[in-house]
Amino acid sequence: MKKIIAITKGDGIGPEVVEEGIKILKIISDYTEFEFEFQEALAGGAVWKKYGESLPEKSFETIKTSDALLFGAIGIPGLPQGVAEIAILKIRQGLDLYVNLRPIKLYDALKDRCPLKDEYIGEGIDITFVRENTEGLYKNIGELKEDEAHNIMLYTRKGCERIIKYAFEFAKRMGHKKVTSVDKANILKPSMLWRKIFHEIASDYSDLQTEDIYIDAFCQWLIRTPYSYQTVVTGNMFGDIASDEGAFLIGSLGMASSGNIHPGKVSMYEPIHGSAPDIAGKGIANPIGTILSVKLMMQESFGQVEVGNKIEGSIEDALKEGRTKDIENPILKTLSTQEMGNLISKKLKSRLKK
Ligand code: NAD
Ligand code: IPM
Ligand code: MN
Repeated sequence: MKKIIAITKGDGIGPEVVEEGIKILKIISDYTEFEFEFQEALAGGAVWKKYGESLPEKSFETIKTSDALLFGAIGIPGLPQGVAEIAILKIRQGLDLYVNLRPIKLYDALKDRCPLKDEYIGEGIDITFVRENTEGLYKNIGELKEDEAHNIMLYTRKGCERIIKYAFEFAKRMGHKKVTSVDKANILKPSMLWRKIFHEIASDYSDLQTEDIYIDAFCQWLIRTPYSYQTVVTGNMFGDIASDEGAFLIGSLGMASSGNIHPGKVSMYEPIHGSAPDIAGKGIANPIGTILSVKLMMQESFGQVEVGNKIEGSIEDALKEGRTKDIENPILKTLSTQEMGNLISKKLKSRLKK
């Protein structure tokens, strides 16, 4: 089965981690019925410097006509704020990728890097953030003037309904028992609408428990009782922030993956971290967030749950033997980005052979 994968390497560590993601896709090509063809779609800060725009029309065309996009990260220090990053919003909004799926799962093999004491880890951490991805403060309705600036936090009924419905369906598909909604309905009007719609939709899913938590308190509960969350549905800005907090609970920002999804349409897969200029070019970036994004691609865009599970299993196997610097353990080998990717590749080959 032939699939075209658009590739955006981006800036900083983007190209380093994407290279490892491509390695995994090539192994899937070699060992399964899938055949991937790669097409580069340039985007980011370096592209802005060269062409004056961070997402040239040609790149968007390439992405639009592909079967899925694997995206690294973009952003270069010193550029005018936002000129690189806007490319991400153009893709998310241009393709109407209204779901941002962000799993936060602590592997047993990586428990030594969880910053929490055992009593807070409880039965384990396995949360999926379902972040609204096209509305809210990110709709880019705003203005920056010399003495004043604003963005409008705009949510529509349609926008709230579709993401909340997706979250309930996702929870059902995953066998979750509870859906948690995170908002700021004690003061923000869009959250008041959000909460009302959350309960309207919840009434169609009486098998699932529900709860509402305000974002400020949630940031505390996420550290205090992470074991109690399964599907967490939230708005665009809150989801951006809470997912980075969650990522450190599983060992590193470099461990967290995401899918920017419109079910049934071209979707975009990327680690949740940025271009990490502080470590770029050193060959030490953790590629696992990107490799887990490939897992999400296989699962969500291509319906290959089993292949996805094998990727995840290979990562768990590899973490017992070696680690990149951000998650290092003195009794294990410290690996470069490429070595980490190679070790996972080796494990994946043997799992796919079976
Ligand atoms: P960042 O996520 O790039 O880095 C934060 C910290 O986490 C740094 O110390 C970094 O070294 C570390 N880190 C991140 N990814 C890692 C990995 N894979 N392995 C090991 N360590 C890792 O956040 P930032 O420094 O705030 O942002 C840098 C640039 O990236 C900015 O221009 C920002 O706008 C952009 N950004 C882009 C995306 C994206 O492209 N999707 C996402 C977030 C931030
Ligand atoms: C992310 C990033 C983006 C966001 C930025 C770079 C636009 O932080 O993907 O988490 O805020 O969504
Ligand atoms: Mn972010």
